[in-house]
Amino acid sequence: MKPTVMLIGLGGLGSIVLELLAREERLGRIVVGSRNATRGVARCNLVRLGAMAQGYAPTIGFVPLDLNDKEAVAEIVQREKPDIILSTATMQTWWLPDLLPPEQAAIIKSAGFGVWLPVHLTLTLKLMEALREANYRGITLTAPFPDVVNCVLSHLDLAPTCGVGNLDEIVPKVRLLAAERLRAPLNAVRVLLVAHHALEPVVFGEPTGEVPPYFLRVEYGGQDVTENIHADELLLAPYPLPPGPVTHFLTAGSTVRLMRALLSEEGALLHAPAPNGLPGGYPVIASREGVQPAPIEGLALAEAIVINERSHRFDGIERIEADGTVVFCPEAAEVLRVELGYECERLTPDEAEDRAQELIARFQKYAERYGVNLRENVRREV
Ligand SMILES: NC(=O)c1ccc[n+]([C@@H]2O[C@H](COP(=O)([O-])OP(=O)(O)OC[C@H]3O[C@@H](n4cnc5c(N)ncnc54)[C@H](OP(=O)(O)O)[C@@H]3O)[C@@H](O)[C@H]2O)c1
Repeated sequence: MKPTVMLIGLGGLGSIVLELLAREERLGRIVVGSRNATRGVARCNLVRLGAMAQGYAPTIGFVPLDLNDKEAVAEIVQREKPDIILSTATMQTWWLPDLLPPEQAAIIKSAGFGVWLPVHLTLTLKLMEALREANYRGITLTAPFPDVVNCVLSHLDLAPTCGVGNLDEIVPKVRLLAAERLRAPLNAVRVLLVAHHALEPVVFGEPTGEVPPYFLRVEYGGQDVTENIHADELLLAPYPLPPGPVTHFLTAGSTVRLMRALLSEEGALLHAPAPNGLPGGYPVIASREGVQPAPIEGLALAEAIVINERSHRFDGIERIEADGTVVFCPEAAEVLRVELGYECERLTPDEAEDRAQELIARFQKYAERYGVNLRENVRREV
């Protein structure tokens, strides 16, 4: 029987992932769950017709689903029996600071992405609690800030299988530039990268000081050519991308390829953030068995983990403690205290929802002060 995929969250990223999944012939049913049924059904209809117009025949169904109702989510999962669940649900999307006037956007973004943790953690935590209740044993992939969110969840024994995107959005850039420098076909070039979410803005050209730590190895025809081709230069070479939600095509492409590997007999060596809740991202072997960090010549897994733990602070996170409490870097917390009046130096998972609501409300007020209506803008974009 062909596998069933359940997609939770049909916003900017979820909608693009759905477009790509609808063109995957190896899939059986796609079940889409989101709160807004009117918008969700219409979107599923559009995707179905678009795929059919292109010659595919996907089976797509919509179920109203609110992650705040864990019992109902558990029931839906037990009924639909998905082989893979992908959640893109979040309380607030990631690109909103870009809507502010440039000066305020730069100030808010200087805090790093980590300060937004509560808005990305809350619904993934609820999902994983619901899946535990449902005794779900399939694969769970998550999009919201997995490099940190899934690591926090691992301390509560609730880690998803892995995250999607992030470092796997960097790998194609390095592979392409390496193949060009080597004048080699793409498929002869292999990239192995250990890197955190915090490296991505640097790689795609946001101004920064220190570069977060990472490990990069490039192989050509099985030989290590990292030094010969100056791979570090390639990683940081200018490669501008348009800002904002159009980059979801990149994330979605990476997500669908990961799903293919997870549904295949043979599996594949890919990259993914947070395999089994590890911090940051790694090369992984993805197969029906799940996801495991791939062995890397010259780098032990423990060393790779240290690289990613040291990278947290480039996203404004000082450390994650054994009980899942997150300690923010003082300078990051200070930016939000001064700008938004939001004070949060430590976050325990159980207070994530309250802090998320407060942060969203304060950010909306802040944006209004600068003439930006966040709700209106998001409605228009998605
Ligand atoms: N890993 C990566 O590489 C990567 C790349 C891009 C984005 N992201 C992350 O992916 C996440 C989604 O981004 P986005 O731009 O798609 O955000 P978005 O447009 O705001 O979509 C989020 C979706 O979550 C749903 N949602 C909200 N509350 C819900 C609830 N209680 N139950 C069920 N669904 C709920 C919303 O749909 P309803 O209102 O209909 O429920 C909404 O469509 C963010 O965390 C973002 O940072 C990750």
